Amino acid sequence: MTVRLGDTAPDFTAPTTEGEVHFHEWLGDSWGVLFSHPKDFTPVCTTELGYVARIKPEFDKRNVKVIGLSVDDVESHLKWEGDIGETQGTPVNFPMIGDPDRKVADLYDMIHPNANDTLTVRSVFIIGPDKKVKLTLTYPASTGRNFDEILRVIDSLQLTAGYKVATPANWRDGDDVIIGSAVTDDEAKQLFPQGWKTVKPYLRVLPQPNK
Ligand code: BEZ
Repeated sequence: MTVRLGDTAPDFTAPTTEGEVHFHEWLGDSWGVLFSHPKDFTPVCTTELGYVARIKPEFDKRNVKVIGLSVDDVESHLKWEGDIGETQGTPVNFPMIGDPDRKVADLYDMIHPNANDTLTVRSVFIIGPDKKVKLTLTYPASTGRNFDEILRVIDSLQLTAGYKVATPANWRDGDDVIIGSAVTDDEAKQLFPQGWKTVKPYLRVLPQPNK
């Protein structure tokens, strides 16, 4: 099944390293990051999970729950987590879904047979509190992801959920933002009484409104 932006994130029940998870119920009112890795006891995945564990407080600060997945089972995940804690400096502090029958992997189209018949690719799904998919990413097995970028996107998604603005290239929290193109100047005067800079009629820049 292809999961696209704006779709409701498919719900599922699955075993995890922290017990059975009913996905939507587990998400509750939080944002969520569901990410897959190809296989347990592999080097790039080991560094990825260690890094996510290290920056977990950053996800917590943003009210985001993180959950990992691979097609290995929970018993294997738990054994591997010992290595991750030992080598990466932070014990894994979020649930990892065991998916040996590929139930969740198929639901989220995480197996791309022309890349590999059996292993999950490095998928990322960011899910909003409304359970809608806000971002999808797919990386190959050979390339570890930049999880600071995931945090950056979450900052943008959370900002733009509350204000009629968009964020420019390489934006970081605190940088200037852009007035959404659907917003007329008259509406913008109401929304942003502090004013903005018109670079072009379609490119209107202002300081980040919630700072
Ligand atoms: C890795 O995590 O290093 C990896 C996993 C599967 C295939 C290739 C690399």
